[in-house]
Amino acid sequence: MEEGHANFGSRMGAILAAAGSAVGLGNVWRFPTEVGNNGGAAFILVYVICILVIGIPIMVSEFVIGRHTQSNMIDGFRRLAPGKWWRIIGYQGVIAAFIILSYYIVVSGWTLYYSVESVAGQLAENRRYDEYFQAFVSNPWLSLAYAVVFMAIVHVVISRGVQKGIEKCSKVMMPMLLLIIGILVVCAFSMPGIDDGLVFLLKPDFSKLTVSVVLSAMGQAFFSLSLAMGCMCTYASYFSPKTKLVSSAMSVAVIDTIVAVFSGFIIFPAVFSVPGIEADAGPGLVFITLPSVFDMAFHSVPFLGYVFSGLFYLLLFLAALTSAMSLHESVTAYVHESLGMSRRKASFLVSVSCMALGMMCCLSFGPLREVTVAGMTIFDLFDFFSSKILLPLGGFLLVIFTGHYLDGRIVKDEITNRGTIPSRVYGVFIFLVRWVVPVAITMIFVRGIIEML
Ligand code: PFF
Repeated sequence: MEEGHANFGSRMGAILAAAGSAVGLGNVWRFPTEVGNNGGAAFILVYVICILVIGIPIMVSEFVIGRHTQSNMIDGFRRLAPGKWWRIIGYQGVIAAFIILSYYIVVSGWTLYYSVESVAGQLAENRRYDEYFQAFVSNPWLSLAYAVVFMAIVHVVISRGVQKGIEKCSKVMMPMLLLIIGILVVCAFSMPGIDDGLVFLLKPDFSKLTVSVVLSAMGQAFFSLSLAMGCMCTYASYFSPKTKLVSSAMSVAVIDTIVAVFSGFIIFPAVFSVPGIEADAGPGLVFITLPSVFDMAFHSVPFLGYVFSGLFYLLLFLAALTSAMSLHESVTAYVHESLGMSRRKASFLVSVSCMALGMMCCLSFGPLREVTVAGMTIFDLFDFFSSKILLPLGGFLLVIFTGHYLDGRIVKDEITNRGTIPSRVYGVFIFLVRWVVPVAITMIFVRGIIEML
């Protein structure tokens, strides 16, 4: 057990842990879906601009608050603004992390199931992947069992602590994940659909650029970088005083974007190799469309199809695991540090209570299918409430806090590591955080409300 406040043991460990939080289902599953739905390269271009202009400034704000206060998100705000209502930002972040984790483990359980099934050769035996997927998710016990196993793995890592758990695990899993991505990209380049895939991903067609595409890109950037849920703030509280905040945020953003774009490189050449399958197949792309794509793309060399799909679902699983760890840690750190519970007890409490909520999400694909609020199942409701309401609201308040309330000297001190590194980016950062980011987030939020009506 670590004494006092925990820390990451190395700069590389810190960056890999933060990158592990960012790289997740959002990159491998949600990003290609969004690219497919929003017309390809033009979306990617806007997405990259959003990462630079909105994502990195918010991440740096979280880093500043986390490292300066050396505490979880709730205590961080309490310390910086004692007695003020700003601490609500911390509460909403931790609550959002808790809710997101409860449905994230459900989809993560699916990735575990698909990894196991494809390695066991079962996936390739089924040709009706839509029925196969439906049969799995609507079987309450099976999908629940996989979600429980997934949560148990996350629990073991988190209860081992920051260095022995999160850092050690990230140092092993992130290189593995990058290696798998590399292998799969190489495989994808040997597919017949590679030319169409590359054109779709790299040649922007600006006629496809609408306001809704721009706003989807912003939403995706937010989710993908794990912002406004206390994860980055909590991880930054474990950074050393020497960690450079701006360059770390940039490294995380670069790794995250590379993984997302490479996932596109893996998926779209395969999709374009198979006639009759559209790039905008939606969220079922990864679990329903892709297995048949792999089948057909590799029908002459089934063994390659087996390896490709096994590695792909393993990639999805590893990505989900490191992100789920950060969501869990955001909540556990609060319970452990602020409520004075031991790390083991705190992580157990979080795992069990989150699993109880996750169980309802799991069952919302089966027995609880009929339980709906405003036409949404429990799973959809949790997703909607956290990512469309809590997340933009939290991000907005966070940048208003950093840009307009927080003492500029604290921000400058953290960004320049107490004056030891040049502050050339400070002016740009403050300008973005004060004006550009709040306006952009307001737009995402308003769009969410309009969609709801
Ligand atoms: N960034 C993760 C992904 O792309 O899948 C998801 C996520 C993790 C969102 C942690 C938010 C968070 F706090």
